[in-house]
Amino acid sequence: MTPDKVRIFDTTLRDGEQSPGINLNRAEKLQIARQLARLGVDVIEAGFPAASEGDLESVRAIAREVKGPIVAGLARTRNEDIMAAWEGVRHAERPRIHTFIATSDIHLEHKLRMSRDEVLEEVRRAVTLARSLTDDVEFSAEDASRSDPAFLAQVLRLAVECGARTLNVPDTVGYAVPAEFGAFLADIMARVDAGRDVIWSVHCHDDLGLAVANSLEAVRCGARQVECTVNGLGERAGNAAMEEIVMALRVRRGADGPDTTLDTTVFQSLSGLVSRLTGFPVPPNKAIVGRNAFAHEAGIHQHGVLRHRSTYEIMKAEDVGAPSSRLVLGKHSGRHAFASRIEAMGYALEPEAVEELFVLFKNLCDRKEMVTDDDLEALIVDEVLSV
Ligand code: KIV
Ligand code: ZN
Repeated sequence: MTPDKVRIFDTTLRDGEQSPGINLNRAEKLQIARQLARLGVDVIEAGFPAASEGDLESVRAIAREVKGPIVAGLARTRNEDIMAAWEGVRHAERPRIHTFIATSDIHLEHKLRMSRDEVLEEVRRAVTLARSLTDDVEFSAEDASRSDPAFLAQVLRLAVECGARTLNVPDTVGYAVPAEFGAFLADIMARVDAGRDVIWSVHCHDDLGLAVANSLEAVRCGARQVECTVNGLGERAGNAAMEEIVMALRVRRGADGPDTTLDTTVFQSLSGLVSRLTGFPVPPNKAIVGRNAFAHEAGIHQHGVLRHRSTYEIMKAEDVGAPSSRLVLGKHSGRHAFASRIEAMGYALEPEAVEELFVLFKNLCDRKEMVTDDDLEALIVDEVLSV
């Protein structure tokens, strides 16, 4: 494993499924988990087994059937949660228990109603129990980004002493901004000084639309696991979108920057599958997997792309499993794109005929937002071939 590998921890089936309005059954979760394995994610967080019998069953099915990635089950620090998580993942090739408790004063006072000493005791008991069941224990400090750094470091140090091998620093409420979050993480890493065997992880929510930016900044500052979801699903405004983080690392990594080991050509089909099964549509302009992510309408752009794709494309559509760049014919399209579409449809027309059709096409664009091949076919047949 190179030190610069960034592990992808997918939580579509846990945090993503917590999106209000999403409810996946076991068969649906299994379908998604198989595709996540095909994509090559490092960890699949399959669910929260203590939440319901159905969730436990789904986690168990994924653990038994899906090979390759680590399969994680989430647990609060309660003994019964940890035992349920273990029941869920124990038959996986590589099982992980992921336990968490909040560390911010806001959560301690208003939600947990616990003192800092009580939280420390919970962490000691929970991580020790989890570690007695499996070698692979992840500890998350919920609301870490709004926690007192000295207390957070104390909690994380204790988690390592009790056997946690992955330390997760979540921006649970999406409050962080990139430079501040990176500096916060670097400070906590220095205070804990956990050594090379511990992997630092982040889990960013998107309440301010900064989840991907915060995750990338965390990687720059030393995080080597990123928690994220397909299409950015998750609580409230969602989590960091996996496809965006992975492609940003890939496209901008330079010669030897950190990278993942994912087969990114699976992104487009997985995004569609998750969208269909959850009922959450993908916006057309969504980065990487939106219908328009590789579509060009403006004439100048189409002309540029026809000459060389790099003029207006920073990655290849095929690299994310999308059909190669689409030139959408609409009122902004120019003669070059129009003529090249007609040629691609198999017509070899005289330049005058193309010019005549181009005028008719522009008239049509005033009535129709997008002109399809069928529309063009009708124009050609009616106006050129029938005369
Ligand atoms: O947002 C969060 O803090 C979480 C934790 C359970 C990791 O989802
Ligand atoms: Zn979360």
